[in-house]
Amino acid sequence: MSAAKVFRTELCDILGIDYPIFLAGMGGLAGEGHAAQPALVAAVSSTGGMGVLGATGLPLEELRAEIREIKRLTSKPFGVDVLLPDEIAMSPPPNMSLSELKKKFIPQQYITFVEKLSAEYEIPLTETKLDFAFSEEHSKKQIEVMLDEGVPLYCSGLGIPDWVVPMAHEGGMKVLGLAGNVRAALRHKKAGVDFIVAQGHEAGGHTGRVGTFALLPQVVDAVSPTPVLAAGGIADGRGIVAALALGAAGVWVGTAFLFASEANVTEVHRKMMIEATEEDTRISRVWTGKTLRQLKNPIQEAFDKSGMPPLPMPVQILLMIDLIYSLAEAKRHDLLCAPTGQIVGMLKEIKPAKRIMEEMVESAVEILNETLPSKVTIRT
Ligand SMILES: Cc1cc2nc3c(=O)[nH]c(=O)nc-3n(C[C@H](O)[C@H](O)[C@H](O)COP(=O)(O)O)c2cc1C
Repeated sequence: MSAAKVFRTELCDILGIDYPIFLAGMGGLAGEGHAAQPALVAAVSSTGGMGVLGATGLPLEELRAEIREIKRLTSKPFGVDVLLPDEIAMSPPPNMSLSELKKKFIPQQYITFVEKLSAEYEIPLTETKLDFAFSEEHSKKQIEVMLDEGVPLYCSGLGIPDWVVPMAHEGGMKVLGLAGNVRAALRHKKAGVDFIVAQGHEAGGHTGRVGTFALLPQVVDAVSPTPVLAAGGIADGRGIVAALALGAAGVWVGTAFLFASEANVTEVHRKMMIEATEEDTRISRVWTGKTLRQLKNPIQEAFDKSGMPPLPMPVQILLMIDLIYSLAEAKRHDLLCAPTGQIVGMLKEIKPAKRIMEEMVESAVEILNETLPSKVTIRT
């Protein structure tokens, strides 16, 4: 960091970082790979924050290779995020092909819906040749890879199954869980996680129903003394200082880092994000079965209008997976899922992650040292 500002909270001491700013573990902009890729993770960690790899859906060998790539790029601490639903709605029998899985788990009207989309947009469906990465067995193997590679922090974007925390702690890995309401935060606390992210409704990606301003102090009070990070709508020093005032020990930032030059985002989505206003995102369950905030697009509108209830996760992903990869192959990124938060309307410029970090720290320090003291008069 250019102007070596000191801006620390308790989190920095626990994790050995300089600034309480985390890069959110952002997984796939479906069909485009994962947004928080090794180069971005390493850039945030090297600048004194906590980079977190968005590793959801990565096959085991790729997960290991990406962890090694981060370690090659930086000697600083980092984390790995994997969505780990605590209830997995299907247990795929081993060695079943994707088409057999679809026949077994997906009702015909859903298949017809996807076929109609494929015809309407003239995107022939090719069958995806992928390991379907959602099973308890696969999740356990992912955690084993992280432990084996000495990853300092594991982050869970959805649930925390009972077995995770003891296994992680035994191997010396800290655990962070995301929560969209007080109930989920209390479950994380009961499971023994080290840090909890209170993620508000305005956040990009999977999100809950309560806004950051209302959620954060309630989670902080409920789980004290567990350190809480604030997420949802934070992109500059103003958001960071507000989060600290509401009781957070740090911030978990997604959308703002999508504007980093190191983020894995297609040019189509970059342009859409730069042009988007604060009203251009919407929540839909079409891609994963769970509520996910993303830039508006016609596929999600068609599903929402169809009136069909979403299938549980991960069956809805299984339904959409061929269309997702066929759209990516056809370069129709405009029709793909682009998880993005409401703060997007404020962000207009692509810049290196280091610069984003510097601006966040410099503006937070300025607000604390100068703006607030000049604005607020306190008399005793
Ligand atoms: C492109 C994108 C992908 C995301 N993927 C994941 C993910 O794989 N796992 C996860 O825990 N959260 C994911 N999220 C949510 C973020 O972790 C984070 O909570 C959110 O971005 C914070 O709100 P903000 O976008 O307003 O900064 C994603 C968010 C975005 C924008």
